[in-house]
Amino acid sequence: MGLAVYDAGNIRNFGNIAMKSQVARRKMAADLEFSQLAWGAWRLRGSEDVSDADDVLRLIETALDHGITTFDHADIYGRYQCESFFGQAMAKAPHLRRRMEIVTKCNIALLGDARPEHRIGHYNTSKAHVLQSIDNSLRNLHTDHIDALLLHRPDPLMIADEVADAFATLRQSGKVRHFGVSNFTPSQFDLLQSRLDQPLMTNQVECSVVELAPIFDGTFDQMQQHRVFPMIWSPLGGARLFSGQNDDAAARLRPILENLRAKYGLPGVAEVAIAWLLHLPCQPLPVLGTMKPTRIIDATQACGIEFDRQDWFTILVAAQGHPVP
Ligand SMILES: NC(=O)c1ccc[n+]([C@@H]2O[C@H](COP(=O)([O-])OP(=O)(O)OC[C@H]3O[C@@H](n4cnc5c(N)ncnc54)[C@H](OP(=O)(O)O)[C@@H]3O)[C@@H](O)[C@H]2O)c1
Repeated sequence: MGLAVYDAGNIRNFGNIAMKSQVARRKMAADLEFSQLAWGAWRLRGSEDVSDADDVLRLIETALDHGITTFDHADIYGRYQCESFFGQAMAKAPHLRRRMEIVTKCNIALLGDARPEHRIGHYNTSKAHVLQSIDNSLRNLHTDHIDALLLHRPDPLMIADEVADAFATLRQSGKVRHFGVSNFTPSQFDLLQSRLDQPLMTNQVECSVVELAPIFDGTFDQMQQHRVFPMIWSPLGGARLFSGQNDDAAARLRPILENLRAKYGLPGVAEVAIAWLLHLPCQPLPVLGTMKPTRIIDATQACGIEFDRQDWFTILVAAQGHPVP
């Protein structure tokens, strides 16, 4: 049987592998869907590809036109500047808001000129900080609601009851629809969940062919157990896959990914690495970090690849540097 590619309804055949090019949807909550791939704004400030709001708008429109409707932010990105950069683009095209889901995060308190009152970098998950942070994010992002707010990092001083109170206030006001966490261990996730009357809708964690921890430390087991879809940050290891010169894992992986790129007919090794993540049974949502519209389009081709089990393990073995026991 030939390889089937479903491209905007069209099926193409390549060899003996089945692929779809469209980005699937994930039901994150009863009234919330995300796209299977998200796009993240972390690198907006400082990218040589993005100099003004028109460049940001081009990225947004490219993502939306290719089925990526979920946009990932944090208050601190770009030293507190990325949300407002994105918001400037949204002010030029406010009608796009209806087509997208906006995720943002809070609770990291950075040192620097933007926050002169901070004497040290720290975490702040107090109700006052969370409410203030959301008011800032709404203004900066040029929107009247956030689809999902994530606590950015586990805070050793987090009082789960106080967070529950903050979340309830934000939900009742209509400012935030759903809540989740990022970089939480399973026990931290369970602790917070135990105080909430609404399910946490995700745990956003780092994972890639060069960062395997959540596959083995119980994080993804918990997600599958609770039928919660994790979001994945740095799905390409933050470019480590391409640039890591003295990086043994990246050096082992590159030729293997290149072979599989050819086998699966994908544009680049990045798409093989993303398809590998999408094959995980917890059905994660990788958050793309590229600032290049063409790479956003290429990434969508990773969706729908039916990864062969032994190909999947070939990558795992190269990533780990030893055969499975
Ligand atoms: N929750 C958290 O704690 C946390 C932490 C970090 C990030 N995040 C989220 O995750 C998102 C993604 O993280 P990330 O930016 O590290 O993701 P990533 O996709 O792993 O890395 C993006 C980097 O890889 C480069 N790249 C992509 N494709 C490439 C290719 N084919 N060849 C060479 N370089 C390539 C990009 O450069 P170009 O722009 O030139 O393509 C960019 O510098 C962030 O935007 C943010 O929303 C969350």
